[in-house]
Amino acid sequence: MATPVDRLFVHCKQLVTLTDGPFSGPRRGAAMQALGVIDDGAVAVRDGCIVAVGPTEAIAREYAAADELDLTGFVVTPGFVDCHTHPVFARTREREFHMRCAGADYMAIAQQGGGILSSMRAVRETGLDVLTELTTEHLWGFLQHGTTTVEAKTGYGLSLHDEEKSLRALGAAMAQVPLRCKRTFLGAHEFPPEYRDNREAYVEIVCKEMIPRLAKLADYCDVFAEPGVFDRVQSLRVLSAARAEGLRLRLHADELQPMGGAELAVELRADSADHLGKISEQGIAAMAASTTTAVLLPGTGFFLGKDIYAPARRMIEAGCIVAIATDFNPGSCHTQSMTLIHTLACVKLKITPAEVLTASTINAAFSLQLDREVGTLHPGKRADLAVLELPSYEAVGYAFGGNPVVMTIADGEPVCVNTSDRSPDPFTGSTRSRAPRTDD
Ligand code: NIG
Ligand code: FE
Repeated sequence: MATPVDRLFVHCKQLVTLTDGPFSGPRRGAAMQALGVIDDGAVAVRDGCIVAVGPTEAIAREYAAADELDLTGFVVTPGFVDCHTHPVFARTREREFHMRCAGADYMAIAQQGGGILSSMRAVRETGLDVLTELTTEHLWGFLQHGTTTVEAKTGYGLSLHDEEKSLRALGAAMAQVPLRCKRTFLGAHEFPPEYRDNREAYVEIVCKEMIPRLAKLADYCDVFAEPGVFDRVQSLRVLSAARAEGLRLRLHADELQPMGGAELAVELRADSADHLGKISEQGIAAMAASTTTAVLLPGTGFFLGKDIYAPARRMIEAGCIVAIATDFNPGSCHTQSMTLIHTLACVKLKITPAEVLTASTINAAFSLQLDREVGTLHPGKRADLAVLELPSYEAVGYAFGGNPVVMTIADGEPVCVNTSDRSPDPFTGSTRSRAPRTDD
């Protein structure tokens, strides 16, 4: 007698489970290669959770469901975990992008009042309702790209009023979108114009007013620790104040110039140090000996045209916990596509498709303290899946420029279906019978 479940996903061409490794915890070094791929795989789901994974034949024998979805032809992975994004913004910044293409420098644009400050003006001019609507749209955009969990930062308000509005907009947007989300307060993203010449006063406001008032609306606090923005002492003050209010910590660290940001993150036992394009050898050693995740953001080096990339190979070989994310924001990286980030991770960071998948699922989940809930397909975890039209998981990163995500599943429910003109319904008709070409 088969055990009843709510739903079966069957006949996945390859089911990438990551169940060869432990249920939770990060994967370092060679352990990043162990994907646990099941050919013709199936997932049994009850109450939004995974009950079992295995070959379709075995799962179909053991479990029965009225609802069965045939995923023949598709590669299925855990839903992507995008652990560094800035989706609470009100206007795009394409003019600035074109200025950069014509040779202008990102930090120089920022120092002239553009960059983050231009997004700040837009957020300040936008009311809570409209900011909520815009943020809601941005959150849906993640689901369209196979991402089922995000870390979302504020940081374009830069006043108590506008950071509170940003956190409330994020909370209201989260309630409308079936996306798992951790909220990060990033009041220390830039110095607003009114405190440009009195930076200490702004740090004081962040520590003494914003953090105590806003901590209950956030899970994390982040700081843009970079020469010319928040220096080491200022970053330390903000992060210490945040910890005292019960927030966990993340840092934008060593992005464009070295500042010992990675070391600071480890010293503070932050959950992540992000960017790390200019991490030092000491920084790598410190991170390797820690549980602070290195969140690498190759889209930013690419989109800024700076070609600054973290030394990912050295970091993996040293034993750092490596995750990758989009850094989705209106300035330095305007993409929500984790699969584009996969391509950049392969090409620019020189990491393998297996490492890419580990970095964008379980390691990213670990950096958000969500590794017991998502990031692998172990029974007991949430049934969050990305359904990909790829010839095999080895083609991760290979097909770029399009969106290979045909369906995103959250808590066992298909929440987003991307159809193509060629096959209006990807689960009937031509897509299933189309034989993908491989290179072997
Ligand atoms: O991670 N580095 C600082 N913050 C963002 C950029 C934000 C922006 O340009 O609007 C980043 O790249
Ligand atoms: Fe960022």
